[in-house]
Order: sequence, then C-alpha cells, then structure tokens
Amino acid sequence: MSTLQEEIQRRRTFAIISHPDAGKTTLTEKLLWFGGAIQMAGSVRARKSTKHATSDWMELEKQRGISVTSSVMQFPYREHIINLLDTPGHDDFSEDTYRTLTAVDSAVMVIDSVNGVEAQTIKLLNVCRMRDTPIITFINKLDRESRAPIELLDEIESTLGMQCAPITWPIGMGKSFRGVYHLYNDEISFFDPKAEKGTSETIKGLDNPRLDEVIGKQAEDLRIDIELVRGASNTFDSAAYLSGKQTPVFFGSAVNNFGVQSLLDAVVELSPAPLPRAAVSREVEPDEAKFSGFVFKIQANMDPKHRDRIAFVRVCGGRFERGMKIKQVSTNKLMAVNNAITFMAQDRNTTDEAYAGDIIGIPNHGTVKLGDTFSEGEDLKFTGIPSFAPEHFRRARLKNPLKMKQLQKGLQQLAEEGASQLFKPLLSNDLILGAVGTLQFDVVAHRLEHEYGVDIVFESFDCSTARWLRGSDADLKAISDKYGFNVALDGAEEYVYLAPNRVNLAMAQERYPDIQFLETREIF
Ligand code: G4P
Repeated sequence: MSTLQEEIQRRRTFAIISHPDAGKTTLTEKLLWFGGAIQMAGSVRARKSTKHATSDWMELEKQRGISVTSSVMQFPYREHIINLLDTPGHDDFSEDTYRTLTAVDSAVMVIDSVNGVEAQTIKLLNVCRMRDTPIITFINKLDRESRAPIELLDEIESTLGMQCAPITWPIGMGKSFRGVYHLYNDEISFFDPKAEKGTSETIKGLDNPRLDEVIGKQAEDLRIDIELVRGASNTFDSAAYLSGKQTPVFFGSAVNNFGVQSLLDAVVELSPAPLPRAAVSREVEPDEAKFSGFVFKIQANMDPKHRDRIAFVRVCGGRFERGMKIKQVSTNKLMAVNNAITFMAQDRNTTDEAYAGDIIGIPNHGTVKLGDTFSEGEDLKFTGIPSFAPEHFRRARLKNPLKMKQLQKGLQQLAEEGASQLFKPLLSNDLILGAVGTLQFDVVAHRLEHEYGVDIVFESFDCSTARWLRGSDADLKAISDKYGFNVALDGAEEYVYLAPNRVNLAMAQERYPDIQFLETREIF
C-alpha cells in the first residue's frame, strides 16, 4: 500500500445523530476524552450549557468563540485518524445539520433508552438514508429506568426500517444496571459509575463463576436473556451494515463513560474508511493521485471587522497540502490556498495536509458557494449535496422600501451560501424565506443588517412545507395557474410548491399526478 492509501485507510469520518437531550454532547465529549483529544471532562458541555442558556444568535456565536473549531473534531485513536463532524442540534438546528451528513462516511445514532426513537432522529436518519450511510446505534442512559431493550430494538426496526444486530446486551437497567455482555467477545463489563472509565472489571465467559459472585441472581437472568437474544435477534453482518440495512447496537451510559470505549472501537473496526463519491462525469476514488473535494457548509464570521467566511470542504480524493493551487470548478479560477484550516486537535508538529475523508476550511470573502467542487484542474462536479424542504417560513418585509435592491441581492447571496432559502411566489411580490431551523432567520436578519445595510422585519407566512416540482412545461403552467400564490421560484429559478398544510399538499399531488413533488433539490 502506498502512503496515500495507508493514510486514507486509517481515516474514519462520521457524525452523531440524535434527538436533543439524548446525550450527543455528552457522548462527543467522552469520545474525545477516550481518544485523548481533551484532557478534562466538562469542556464540551460547558460550551453547550452557556450556549443553551440563550436563543440569541449573536450571543451563541460569541460564546462559541471561533466556532469553526468545534465543527470538526479530529483526533488519533488506535493508529486511526477520527474526524467527528458536529451536527448542530437544539437552537442551532439548521440545514447545515442535514448537509453535514452528506459529508460523512458513517454515523452514530444515539437513542435515549427512556424515550426511544424521537422525531429529530427520524429526520436525520432519512437524510442518512439518501446515501445508505452505515449507522452504528448507541442506546444511552441505561442507568435510568429504561424501556425494555427488546422493545427498543423493535421500535428502531419498525420506525427506522433497519435490522438491529445487538453487539452488547445490557444487564439490568436503572438502579439494577450492572453492565453489558458482549455477544461476540463473550465478555462481561461490569458497570461502576465510580470507576474512572465506568467499568470496574471485565471478565470472560457467561459461565464464569465470578459473574454470579458479582451480580448474584441477575447472572442467571442474564444467561436466559442471552440465549433468547441469540435466538431471536440478527447476527451482525458487515455487508448489511455497510449498505445501511442493518445497524449494530451498543448499550451504555455516556455520562458515566460506560460503553463509550466499545463504541469508539466499533467506529474504528466496523465503520468504513473514506468511500468513493459520485460526481456527474464519474465516480471519484479516495486514493486518486489528485486532490478533489466539495463544499458542504459555509460559515460566516459574524465579527463585522472580519467579513470572511469559511468554506468547509470534504476532501473526496487524494491529498491536500497547504499552499496548493486548486481550481474552483464553478468559476474556473485557480486559488492558492495558503491559509486553509486543518483540524488536527493535538499534534502541532503535523504538516498542514489533509487526505480523503478529512475536512479543510478555506477562508474566503463570499466567492465560494455551497456545493462548489474543488479539483487540481479536472471539471468535476460532485453530486449529493442537496437543499432540503424547509419547515419554517417567513415573509421578509423591508423597513425602508428604497432598499429593495440590496435586500434582493442579500437574500440571493445568503441563499447561495445556504443560510436560508429564498422563494418568490409567482403571483405576488413577496420574498419568502424558508428554513429547517428557526435560528436561520435570526442569522439572515443579522447578516442583512450588518453586511448589506438592510433592516427587515419578518412576518408569518402560512406554509408548513415545500416541495420542488418536476414536470412538463404544460403541467407546471397548469399548477402555477391553479395555485399561483403558492407556487414560487427559488433562488435557482426552480419551481416550488409552498404547501399551507399536509392536506393541501396531498390534494395538489393527487390533482397533478404527473408532477414530481421532491423533498430535496440538488444544488448545482
Ligand atoms: P444532547 O447533546 O443530545 O442534547 O444531550 P446532552 O449530552 O446535553 O445530554 C442531555 C442530558 O442527559 C444531560 O443532562 C446529560 O447529563 C444527560 N445524560 C447524558 N448521558 C446520560 C446517561 O448516560 N445517563 C443519564 N442519566 N443522563 C445522561 P442535563 O440535566 O440536561 O444536564 P447536566 O445538568 O447533567 O449537565
């Protein structure tokens, strides 16, 4: 294997998906701690708790400090390089959360053992499903009075449509939670919240008398449970996992560090190294000699003194080196990237380089757009970086009507960056903004004011979701005539149906069976 191949093979790029409060922040912190990337527990949570105390977006940004540093967390673990991509949740849930999932090779899904599968998990999983992203499941909070494990697995299978293959199995729960049994290593790890790594002892073998010594009567229950589980559950099948059809399941308690190491080991051992990526003309292999990558997120620096933006590029092929000249394919311009940000957390001696699977941040002044491809010259265009149907809508109204031009320009540019989406209904002069998280509106208002000198107020707009329309010219004209106030053009001049509610949407779909109503639109 060449050095390039070796470097790529040891990379694992993943994100954590979960519903708010399932334990994503806690787990992130523990993963970083087990990976040796942070010395002290508490730092990630501290960031979050201050963050959580306010919904004011400027405050959020200030408290986050240089927020790019938390967007990608890279650390070495067991001869591997882990790239953990942050998926903002809570107040800062946005389209970025979805799009980050297009830049990873796998995901870890955290389920709260008390609440089971929750709404945001379903949404995020649907995004993963678009690329059949392999998912490892971590069922968290076993130290609480949880739902029965078998019931949780049933729920995952029925609501998320994936087979579950338990890798570990919990021994009791809540007050009687004693640890987990590893179904493949035939090992029992005893839970001890006071032990530094959550585990007091690990023993081999279900028949080990030490098991009875430590957990008494629960030992016999465990033996019966495991026999049932082995009979009734799916065996782990790597191919099924890698194609997104089966999820290996681990149980634990993140806050007590318990089960976290097994999870991190699973990321290294089970999840895929950087995968090939589809481009319009061909598939790009990670170990190609030449560099290529695409922009999945743009983050603006909100400090008015520094109007720069960071474009987050997922490296898809080859190797990046600081100072390299790369081509922005959409403009055909070469850029010498001397100030790229790489994310290696600890090792200050590393040269500034990145390999397929890694993320680099490219500072720019608004010239780089979401979905842009960078290459060493080839006219590549990566696919699979979509806009997602918004669920929140606002009508933008100017305080000073003379600033209409600036407003339109600002909204257009912010839409290209992915800050929010812009819709112009065919039969009105309204400018409608769409977002998947309401914080996106605050971002837009703030940036319009500070970067474009435009003051706006938001009004409510009666719409619950949007669908991009694909069909013949005649059909599109017919639906536009019928629902002109609710058919709009988006920032890329594509037809969109703005549905007041699900019933209207269903009716429109029934009335125009030849039109496709799409929940996502590829960014070109
Ligand atoms: P999130 O990022 O997914 O929103 O979740 P976060 O990690 O913030 O966890 C949400 C709450 O769940 C936190 O409690 C956290 O301490 C708790 N938690 C995480 N893992 C476990 C676990 O294994 N067992 C139990 N019992 N609780 C867990 P909080 O009260 O909101 O915050 P804090 O006061 O504990 O800091």
